[in-house]
Amino acid sequence: MAPQAAFAVFFLLIRVSLSKLQVTTSASPVEAKVGDEVLLTCLMTVNPPPLDLKQLMIQWFHRGKMLVEYDNELTIQDPDIQVSEEELQKGNFSLFIPNITAQRAGNYRCYIYYTSGTSMKEIVLKVEDPSKVEEKEEHDVCPKDSSPEVLKKVDDVLEKLKTLTGEMQKCLCRQ
Ligand SMILES: *[C@@H]1O[C@H](CO)[C@@H](O)[C@H](O)[C@H]1NC(C)=O
Ligand SMILES: *[C@@H]1O[C@H](CO)[C@@H](O)[C@H](O)[C@H]1NC(C)=O
Repeated sequence: MAPQAAFAVFFLLIRVSLSKLQVTTSASPVEAKVGDEVLLTCLMTVNPPPLDLKQLMIQWFHRGKMLVEYDNELTIQDPDIQVSEEELQKGNFSLFIPNITAQRAGNYRCYIYYTSGTSMKEIVLKVEDPSKVEEKEEHDVCPKDSSPEVLKKVDDVLEKLKTLTGEMQKCLCRQ
């Protein structure tokens, strides 16, 4: 290979490795209370800039259900959720949830597909429901109320253990 060609390849490789997609998200888990507003951050940068929106496809999922997609145009599946189209131009694909409900809890995934790479980041949202906490405390005060449930759970666990150690049990029965 001619030295010039070798240099060209070398610089091309540097360029490709620099043209990296970097994604930063909120530190997981994010904790909120019912009624709070929450911003789940998903920021992307490419090096070298600028971000080419035509080469970009992004999606937000909540527990496997798509909430938002950007693929030439922004589609928001859930009317209560906000994603700023203006911020999106700058690589800010953060999800704004104005009024947190218990159903909003769970894992959120930000998927980014770009020419120079793909990325998936997960954020877990924990939602504290003050009314539920009070109920739980009442139960704790009266353990008798919850004991059938607890026994059922113990039964379930025993069932699972039996299945798991099925082979072992068979051996023990033969002896
Ligand atoms: C990202 O956009 C949201 C609005 O959707 C805004 O509140 C937030 O400040 C922006 N973050 C950055 C780092 O620009
Ligand atoms: C938030 O949601 C709750 C339950 O759906 C509703 O009662 C309340 O009015 C909402 N608050 C705002 C500020 O939208």
